[in-house]
Amino acid sequence: MIFYFSATGNSKYVALRIAEETKEKSIAITDCIKNKQFTFEVKDKEKIGFVTPTYFLGLPSIVCEFLDKLELRMPDLHQPYIYYVATFGTTTGQTGHMVNEFLKKRGLSLNGRFGVQMPDTWTPIFDLTNKEKIARINHEAEKQIGEAAEKIKLESVGDFRRRKLPMVAVKLYHPQYEKQRQTKYFMVEDSCIGCGLCAKKCPAAAIEMQEDRPVWIKEKCVLCLGCLHRCPTFAIQYGKKTKNHGQYVNPNVKV
Ligand SMILES: Cc1cc2nc3c(=O)[nH]c(=O)nc-3n(C[C@H](O)[C@H](O)[C@H](O)COP(=O)(O)O)c2cc1C
Ligand code: SF4
Ligand code: SF4
Repeated sequence: MIFYFSATGNSKYVALRIAEETKEKSIAITDCIKNKQFTFEVKDKEKIGFVTPTYFLGLPSIVCEFLDKLELRMPDLHQPYIYYVATFGTTTGQTGHMVNEFLKKRGLSLNGRFGVQMPDTWTPIFDLTNKEKIARINHEAEKQIGEAAEKIKLESVGDFRRRKLPMVAVKLYHPQYEKQRQTKYFMVEDSCIGCGLCAKKCPAAAIEMQEDRPVWIKEKCVLCLGCLHRCPTFAIQYGKKTKNHGQYVNPNVKV
């Protein structure tokens, strides 16, 4: 089984592609959270995978919440093959390490670690307006997905990520996530048509429609930027820079 979290589709696409290759089922972490399902029976010889985006060199808060509650019921004493795939724009940071720390609490550990470079959805910094560049990055990602899937099928053990950073850099940068995921930085422009999509899809239930306008009702959210990227009129902005940096959703999946 492959657990995935994805806001703009990159990680969902990677999870579905690996699931296709390994003939495993994929499970959305957002569904598990919504249905309060955290216990899973692992069949004999079944692999366990996790696919997530990288946020501030670490894991999205919703993934931490899920991993903290996850209970895997194993058929025998030996752990099955467990792997993690980070999708990322520039570097995977210490995402794998963080997943492993959660697994360690259950006497488990990661066997394989992988990374797939994809368009960087952190548009307060990165510009996603160049469609050719995005297509090129997604084209190059295909090879990385194929290589990871092959290694996963063979149950290869090791850290196969290319872009790594030392823990010290992560320790300095990752705490920024807590500060940045304050919803006070979001704003809605007049182009909003009141469709309610942002509220319906928010994985943190942080948005409520009030008089046909989204209102952030929680102090913090996952900061997945799904609301910003999926809005049909690009009415949601985060800070001052996102407006010039465009919207993105992975072209191969529905999110
Ligand atoms: C809040 C936020 C923080 C991010 N931080 C990083 C980062 O530290 N390193 C990186 O390489 N990519 C970073 N990204 C880019 C995403 O990890 C990347 O685009 C990922 O593929 C998005 O996955 P998704 O489409 O499945 O949601 C960040 C994106 C967001 C929204
Ligand atoms: S998705 Fe966009 S247009 Fe629809 S309600 Fe939200 S902000 Fe308005
Ligand atoms: S408010 Fe927007 S950025 Fe925050 S969790 Fe919801 S969809 Fe993601």
